[in-house]
Amino acid sequence: MSFVTHLECGRCGKQFEPGKVYNLCDCGSPLLARYDLGQAARTLSRDRMARRPANLWRYREVLPVARESSIVSLGEGFTPLIHAERLGEKLGLPNLHLKDESANPTGSFKARGLAVAVSMARELGIRKLAMPSAGNAGGALAAYAARAGMEAAVFMPDGTPLANRLECSLLGARVETVAGSIKDCGRVMRERLGANGDDGWFDVSTLREPYRLEGKKTMAYELVEQLEGAVPDAIVYPTGGGTGLIGMWKAFAEMEELGWIGARRPRMFAVQSAGCAPVVRAFANRAERAEEWENPETVASGLRVPSAVGDFLILRALRESRGAALAVEDVTMLDAVRELAEMEGLVTSPEGGATLAALKRLVADGFLAGYETVVLLLTGSGYKYVEVLQILARSQ
Ligand SMILES: Cc1ncc(COP(=O)(O)O)c(C=O)c1O
Repeated sequence: MSFVTHLECGRCGKQFEPGKVYNLCDCGSPLLARYDLGQAARTLSRDRMARRPANLWRYREVLPVARESSIVSLGEGFTPLIHAERLGEKLGLPNLHLKDESANPTGSFKARGLAVAVSMARELGIRKLAMPSAGNAGGALAAYAARAGMEAAVFMPDGTPLANRLECSLLGARVETVAGSIKDCGRVMRERLGANGDDGWFDVSTLREPYRLEGKKTMAYELVEQLEGAVPDAIVYPTGGGTGLIGMWKAFAEMEELGWIGARRPRMFAVQSAGCAPVVRAFANRAERAEEWENPETVASGLRVPSAVGDFLILRALRESRGAALAVEDVTMLDAVRELAEMEGLVTSPEGGATLAALKRLVADGFLAGYETVVLLLTGSGYKYVEVLQILARSQ
């Protein structure tokens, strides 16, 4: 079913055999799954796609799961791509599209990554999965682990939206709240569980295992299918650990090798909060790595990521694509959440709002001329951010 040939370190290029349990490379960098795309192309053609189910497993040749019986699915993927006509007209962008990731199981794009990671864990015989999470990833892990009959442990910062914490408990995960950011959660998790140590907990933190990225990359395959073979001109992505951005960039290269698209690529734009913008700072400084952000603070819990193990891969994709990294203030993000609700009927999360806030800056700063096909990644549902909805209701 899968055409994985090996895993490859995103930094030093060291290669690893497929079908084994891995976290990071010995050099401390993320591993990327590589495929025999020539073989995959024999069955994975765009023409054949129409007959396949509308979920991310339609791209099974370029996913790492070898046995169909390993798949743990709740119907993730193939989310709507909505033509935002009213908003587009207002902004002078007639080809503005919204990828509504709230339509995924558990209400966010995190379902894509965790569906694939939990399926691979099942295939590799892993039974206990642990992660630090800003909220949505924890909910998705808890759901897929429940469905697979596995144990899950989630370590969340104390400011995580209540709904995220409650859903994890309801889904049977062990939940621990930690004072600080997701980075502190990771540290506490490794102390408490000795992740990958004697007691058998496997660390599924962002980019510390290779397969969440593979699930997230399917967003790019879907965009090309939904745009009938066209590659968007620009993608605006709210960036924490950056898995989706790195994954999509990888997917465009794969699609070229599969013969789905040519050499043209979208410009990739990363958005962060002004209260936690390590990638934006590193991009502006032309640095290869991002320094840790002190005292990260933002209402967009998914963007409260002070340092990312895949920072150099994010920065590489931004530069190779002639994109950019932008920081937006929380108030602007929330105004944009309201605007998306009022103009397009979508209740999106603050991270989704950040993409619209950034888009306005891109238009104002002349990055976009108006004719381009632009996609905003609305990564999660706003319904879990009741605290944010209350702020918005009070300011009405
Ligand atoms: C709704 C939402 N958007 C964006 C992000 C950032 O995703 P990534 O860490 O893959 O960059 C998160 C992460 O928690 C999130 O929950």
